[in-house]
Amino acid sequence: MDPAPLWWTFSSLAVTLVIFQLFTVPSHLRHLPRVPIFPLLVSYLSGEVEDVRIKRLILPYANERGEGLVLVWALGRWMIHILDHKLAVEMTENLLLYPKELPPDGLLLWRFIGGSNILMANGDRWKKHSRVIRDALNLSIPVDQFIYLSRNLFDAINPPSEENDTHTVDFAELAQRFALDAVGSSVLGHDFDAIRTESLFVKEYNGIMQDIANPLYLIMPFLEKVFPRKEVIKRMDNLVDKFQMLLQAKRNDPGDDMMTFMLKEPTMSEEELRDNMVVLFIAGHDTSAGGLSTLIYFLAIHPEIQAAAREETLRVLGPTSDPGVDTLSAALLPYLNACIREALRINTPVSYIVPRVTAENVTLGRYYIPSNTSLIYNIYAVHHRNDVWGDPNTFRPNRFLEKTERSQILKDAWVPFASGPRQCPARNFALYEQRALAVMLLREYEWTLPADSIHQDGLKNAFSPFALTLPHNLHITFTKRK
Ligand code: HEM
Repeated sequence: MDPAPLWWTFSSLAVTLVIFQLFTVPSHLRHLPRVPIFPLLVSYLSGEVEDVRIKRLILPYANERGEGLVLVWALGRWMIHILDHKLAVEMTENLLLYPKELPPDGLLLWRFIGGSNILMANGDRWKKHSRVIRDALNLSIPVDQFIYLSRNLFDAINPPSEENDTHTVDFAELAQRFALDAVGSSVLGHDFDAIRTESLFVKEYNGIMQDIANPLYLIMPFLEKVFPRKEVIKRMDNLVDKFQMLLQAKRNDPGDDMMTFMLKEPTMSEEELRDNMVVLFIAGHDTSAGGLSTLIYFLAIHPEIQAAAREETLRVLGPTSDPGVDTLSAALLPYLNACIREALRINTPVSYIVPRVTAENVTLGRYYIPSNTSLIYNIYAVHHRNDVWGDPNTFRPNRFLEKTERSQILKDAWVPFASGPRQCPARNFALYEQRALAVMLLREYEWTLPADSIHQDGLKNAFSPFALTLPHNLHITFTKRK
């Protein structure tokens, strides 16, 4: 008997089984609402950006059907996306019932970040990392550094050698370089000099991030094992080695940065210090850069809001004096602060958090969730619920200044830094960084969106494997104020 037909039958059955297992909702989750798989696959394969996918496929579950959560297929499995801030708070407050999920083996993203750090650890190990990093971040807010870097940025916007007062620059790129220098000098204790030079370190990092974002590998993570990307892994390991070298250099030449403070911690191993350095590098610059770009974009397309923020800045700080921690407080600059809050809401830099997993069977709100189920807090969706925000797609800073019976609800539902004990430890650092650069720019320039901008019909974000919402190719025309 010819064995070929039998072989074909078995192989087709095996392939069908694999596809079935990969895409079918497991029986213990079938009682939950879910986003249909086919549009999701099309979205992933076409490289659709996260915020567009959320708006198109996930948000209708919150806005039209009033669901607090929904199942979404991603990274080769079904996960719950939490769309309601009260359910999210319940989840993020309870670290024992909802610990961070151990990342799947082999995913390049997690190989790069490493496991021995504040972002990925659980239990007592997380407590240790968190204590050291929070203490380091609370040492002082480096406002002087932010002001110094803002002046470097002015030179990048209009080089001193040029007389022309009007220049168009890619602000998304400049914001990334600014945020990198901010986190480099004050947190990591290394001057990347990214604003003034083309840092090779940054180029290498951006290249690796692009490779990680290969949609095929994101949809079928098992490919990392079947066809390992050796060249990318090598470049990634080289970059991690460079962090190790920065750490060694810091040990030999301490400064007054946060890394020097962390090096004094006797309980931190070399690997833990290095992995935390990588986390602070990644968590600390693209997030801030995304927030800054979004703010500058919305002030560009709303000249009246830009003018009101400038009027407040000049009234409070005067035209030239360097602001300090006291004068840059949110209380003294309420309108600017509301603009920053609104930018962080409408295009929230971290669209959703690192997955948690249920440690046992739980009931969250009206939903029963079996143990060992992955959950994600979808911050972008929470920030765009119609029933909470009314007009979620409108940039309207005043919503944070109006005193109404809904003020507390808006306050609770504004979660760009997440919530609970594991919310961003650098919230204060990041908000001061945003205010510092914003006031410096408002006093120095007026800015507009060029007529040929790709963002004329709305802000467009880059594709990101880290669920980051980062505007790209954001050309802005700055004119020096007289
Ligand atoms: C606008 C800027 C920023 C935003 C919107 C932001 C947002 C967030 C969010 C949503 C989380 C929770 C992630 C999760 O639970 O999975 C987080 C965690 C974290 N962020 Fe930020 N972040 C910003 C800036 C920064 C900066 C500047 C740093 C460092 C200098 C930083 C360091 C961290 C760290 C270390 C964690 C992990 C905390 C933990 O797991 O205990 N972030 N951030």
